Amino acid sequence: MRIIVTAGPTREAIDPVRFISNKSSGRMGYAIAAAAARLGHEVRLISGPVSIPAPGKVAVERVQSADEMFRAVKKSLAWCDVLVMAAAVADWKPASVCAHKMKKRSTGSLLRLVRTPDILKWAGRNRKKQLLVGFAAETRGLLAEAGRKLREKNLDLIVANDVAEPGAGFDVPTNRVTLIHRSGQVECWPLMLKTKVAGRLIKQIESMLSTGV
Ligand code: PMT
Repeated sequence: MRIIVTAGPTREAIDPVRFISNKSSGRMGYAIAAAAARLGHEVRLISGPVSIPAPGKVAVERVQSADEMFRAVKKSLAWCDVLVMAAAVADWKPASVCAHKMKKRSTGSLLRLVRTPDILKWAGRNRKKQLLVGFAAETRGLLAEAGRKLREKNLDLIVANDVAEPGAGFDVPTNRVTLIHRSGQVECWPLMLKTKVAGRLIKQIESMLSTGV
């Protein structure tokens, strides 16, 4: 199969030296890209700014902002059979970017924010044959929130993680995920290394593609 994986955070510029971002290390998405390549699939990894090495046999496209990630996904969606969005895309960006470093004396305390594009929602509306897999990073109401995102973004599968739980979510080597399928079927996986979660997820996706669900 041909698979696009997104990984890492996005950075939304405030001025040339400051940005809004989040704690994503890229480990989850990079592990998924590596597992897919190991299993012989063609992989394109669209990565936000991270400090981990690129997996072997994977074409990496580096981006900074949500807008750049959106452009990269749009460009490649028709190429792929599967899109897995493990990236922690910023939901807001500054309404305008200052050309020069903002001076403390010249600015008020308010930063006006606007929404970034919802990349996965766009993919859900514009996909043809592609299987769409999203992630949901939650700190409460895991199943309800993830189920809502699955429906609103028109996904086949969502991988929910409680990012407030020790050993799960952002910037740790392990994760504990719950998979919610389009059919409503729910699978709770135990705490595992992200590399193991990734391998199981790719097997799951292979089986969904071969059975058509
Ligand atoms: O990178 P690590 O340190 O290993 O951490 C892994 C992780 C916590 C980042 C990963 O497991 C994870 O949960 N990724 C999704 C984070 C997220 O942005 O979740 P969300 O619930 O806010 O978004 C739901 C889905 O919509 C996600 O697939 C996200 O990629 C996508 N999205 C969100 C916002 C946006 N503007 N466009 C999107 O496509």
